[in-house]
Amino acid sequence: MRSQTSYLQIIALLIGGLFAGLGAHADTSTPTDMTNSPNTHLDVYKSPTCGCCAHWIDHAEESGYTVDAHHPEGLTDFKLAQGIGLRYQSCHTAISAEGYRFEGHVPAKYVTQYLSAPPQGSIGLAVPGMPVGSPGMEMGDRFMPYQVLLLQENGSHTVYADLKRAQDQH
Ligand code: CU
Ligand code: CU
Repeated sequence: MRSQTSYLQIIALLIGGLFAGLGAHADTSTPTDMTNSPNTHLDVYKSPTCGCCAHWIDHAEESGYTVDAHHPEGLTDFKLAQGIGLRYQSCHTAISAEGYRFEGHVPAKYVTQYLSAPPQGSIGLAVPGMPVGSPGMEMGDRFMPYQVLLLQENGSHTVYADLKRAQDQH
């Protein structure tokens, strides 16, 4: 009885080791693939003391992006130089590897959708201000409907997404 038990234990250890080996292999290949994709890296320009910006970065990272944060002097002028007019500005600006801009609390779902097919003549997306309930601006169950704007090269915009319910963001 005793020898049969230890025999089964050895089999279990061998099978466990086999699966652990397979798991370790999968873990090392996946992040490498992610980092090599230019579509999944964002540089985020923000104030060093901005709390909601850090929450938005967490949201972006949870959605599969890698993020480098930067704290330039004169953030408003930096945004203007990036073609983001005052009426479109929010707390932070994310810039993709290709140079597209994502101003403010844009849900990562729309960043991904935009990067998969950037509309011609556009420079990126913006959520002006800081709507309560947008990614990084969570306050319990509160949700303030807002729009994701498509920023055009000529300084105008169109509506890219109209968010009426919190669940539409994910
Ligand atoms: Cu913010
Ligand atoms: Cu921010």
